[in-house]
Amino acid sequence: MLHVLNHPLITHKLTIMRKSETGTKDFRQNLDEIAALMAYEICKDLPMKPVEIDTPVAHMKAKELDCEIVLIPILRAGLGLVNGINNLIPTAKVGFIGLYRDEDTLKPHEYFAKFPPTMTMDNTVNMVLDPMLATGGSAIAAIEMIKKRGARNIKLCCLVGAPEGVSAMQQAHPDVDIYLAALDDHLNEKGYIVPGLGDAGDRIFGTK
Ligand code: PRP
Ligand code: URA
Repeated sequence: MLHVLNHPLITHKLTIMRKSETGTKDFRQNLDEIAALMAYEICKDLPMKPVEIDTPVAHMKAKELDCEIVLIPILRAGLGLVNGINNLIPTAKVGFIGLYRDEDTLKPHEYFAKFPPTMTMDNTVNMVLDPMLATGGSAIAAIEMIKKRGARNIKLCCLVGAPEGVSAMQQAHPDVDIYLAALDDHLNEKGYIVPGLGDAGDRIFGTK
């Protein structure tokens, strides 16, 4: 299922990120803030369990989270979403997938993988993170990689998606919910999302 999180704070911050004059510092800061706001929405249906606790005033039946969270950024650009979510969910574990998209073929190439053991537990929610869902090749490959290693309950969290990437993802992994801050218009001939925000990795890390 596709969820486009049309929240005024998310959309406002994304507009700042899209502007070509926005520099690395403001780009990263807004990405951190959007990541936290998206996590707040994505986590609204997480399972809870009853617990009995003592407040300073009385004994009560309360609730606490009944799941593990694993964040799985797709390197490099996915790293930009980790801090904001981790601030909100400090107990989250983090796994890493290194993929880069060949600029000519647009096909993803794997160069790194490291995951926490909790990734495969029954009560774990695995959040795959990448700001951009363009052709969908990187997200599809990343999710194949973690499914092969036993991950279930997977959510894909991206900032900007193209319709082409969304339908490729839905075909390849119909069981995975996709969360976007915006669904853009199309891909250009170089595989960039239009209007998009440019190359997310370069803008986060200042590499161009
Ligand atoms: C970008 C982006 C995604 C991918 C999206 O990464 O962060 O991972 O492209 O494109 P796709 O949906 O067509 O696969 P890139 O390969 O540029 O690597 P980087 O994060 O290291 O910059
Ligand atoms: N990767 C990016 O960083 N930006 C795009 O628009 C497409 C792929």
